[in-house]
Amino acid sequence: RTFFRVLGGATLVSIAGGIGIFVYVTQKDRHPGSQLPYDPEKKTIVILGSGWGATSLLKTLDTSEYNVVMISPKNYFLFTPLLPSVAVGTLSPKAILQPTRYLARHKARAVTVIEAEAKEIDPFNKTVTFEDDTEIKGEVSHTTISYDYLVHAVGAEVQTFGIPGVQEKACFMKELSDAEIMQRRFKDCIESAAFPGQDSTEIDRLLHIVIVGGGPTGIEVSGEIHDFLEDDLKAWYPELAGRIRISLVEALPSVLPMFSKQLIEYTESTFKESKIEILTKTMVKEVKDKSVVLQMPDKSIQEVPCGMVVWAGGNKGRKITQDLMAQYPNVQTNRRGLTVDDQLRLAGADGSIFAIGDCTSTSYAPTAQVASQQGAYLARVFAQMAKKNTLQAKLNQLEQSEGAVTDTVDKANRKSEIETTRKLIANVKVRPFHYSHQGSLAYIGSDKAIADLPFANGNIASAGVATFLFWRSAYLSTLFSLRNRTLVANDWIITKIFGRDLSRD
Ligand code: FAD
Ligand code: NAI
Repeated sequence: RTFFRVLGGATLVSIAGGIGIFVYVTQKDRHPGSQLPYDPEKKTIVILGSGWGATSLLKTLDTSEYNVVMISPKNYFLFTPLLPSVAVGTLSPKAILQPTRYLARHKARAVTVIEAEAKEIDPFNKTVTFEDDTEIKGEVSHTTISYDYLVHAVGAEVQTFGIPGVQEKACFMKELSDAEIMQRRFKDCIESAAFPGQDSTEIDRLLHIVIVGGGPTGIEVSGEIHDFLEDDLKAWYPELAGRIRISLVEALPSVLPMFSKQLIEYTESTFKESKIEILTKTMVKEVKDKSVVLQMPDKSIQEVPCGMVVWAGGNKGRKITQDLMAQYPNVQTNRRGLTVDDQLRLAGADGSIFAIGDCTSTSYAPTAQVASQQGAYLARVFAQMAKKNTLQAKLNQLEQSEGAVTDTVDKANRKSEIETTRKLIANVKVRPFHYSHQGSLAYIGSDKAIADLPFANGNIASAGVATFLFWRSAYLSTLFSLRNRTLVANDWIITKIFGRDLSRD
């Protein structure tokens, strides 16, 4: 009995302690303290973007050493790995957003956060011109500012290859608005199929969903749509759900080329069980209002009726990135993106421009993992540069006043101090960026995920329900804030208990 009393007491104390810590952390987060003001003596870093690279940089950066300005058309960070879950309503949009100001207000020095799109970079005069592209504009909505250092972290945009109809008629899966549009269209297809008197062929067309691109985005979207169908639509649209068809079209001979062979096979067999049809060696040639034109493996052309097309065909550089490349026509020649050196400095520039994430072309895949490690690395580079600058200022001062020292002992001491400072400066080294791969993970639907995890000198491939639980816990812990973790965990529980929402706003 005593044992159970002690156990009960310890449990109560742990729960109370947990609640206490939760309340303390959330309240501390909600009520940020005062910050250092702008300091004209400090150098100014302008960061373009508020995605994986930029946010990771801001999070790690010691702002007491710099003035920081962050410019992005989105005033939030979007946790892209869970975007396909938003597209079917498993998660609410707010759960995977983190307003940039929540992070900026907790930095040592006030960070200027500007909701605007950078339009022009002048690397020779060190200026950035940006514009408020939103619906409501003030008297001033276009301006130019100077920078000492520029971090280009604008990501990439959807690559459509100029295929007719893709831009105008397909849904994408890149931004939050894309997920919201996809959800609305998908529900519209179902409600239109349920319209009284709808012809059977038309019902089949409306309920045919075509996903283009067998990369991780296309696979995850297919898996999520399948879950929505199995978990919810079968119950609420019993007469229609069985007619919903999901087709995944991929131009290459296999889906998920970045995963190991056994995981590709596992995904293909899971999709087969889930009745998701995979069409490999098949290329989308045109997206029409009510169909998609495919070039089949035998090169024949087929027009397939469908209700909706989701385009996940890859990425390309943004205009601002292409314009920056055009400033260095002899060096920036890689069409995949900006060329940087091993310290992420823009090749060809004077060392004041850095580029990270999907806008660069490196030997690494364009992933969140790479972008966030590059952001954190750059914060360390800036810390080293600040250290060097402080030591250099001290050295300048010591050298300038050296002549005024007359006493022999003081002279010798000064000489030794100068020598020590020089050595300290020489010791401030910036190591090259080194990427540490933590593994590749993807959700494939039916509560299953696949994972290629680095182990010793090789790889462990894992798949199934346990991997799905690992996938969930990995992403829950990767979310940037306690607020997001709470919202995501809450949505998962709510979806499990009550199912996904069917209403179409
Ligand atoms: P982004 O995160 O795209 O950020 C770019 C930022 O720049 C945005 O804030 C944007 O608003 C801003 N911007 C755009 N234009 C301008 C401009 N002109 N001026 C100023 N700012 C601008 N990777 C993984 O490693 N694991 C995953 O599980 C994973 N899942 C994904 C799921 C989906 C659906 C998608 C689409 C991607 C996924 N990725 C994943 C890839 C990952 O999201 C990207 O590699 C990552 O976002 C790249 O980070 P970034 O900082 O370069 O760009
Ligand atoms: P992707 O570039 O990886 O895949 C696009 C696919 O579309 C390619 O396989 C391509 O062959 C195919 N395609 C292009 N045009 C086509 C056409 N006309 N017809 C048929 N198929 C066509 O793009 P994705 O999936 O958006 O991924 C982008 C980046 O984000 C990758 O680096 C990826 O690793 C990363 N990512 C990672 C995730 C994860 O780790 N879970 C999830 C989502 C993205």
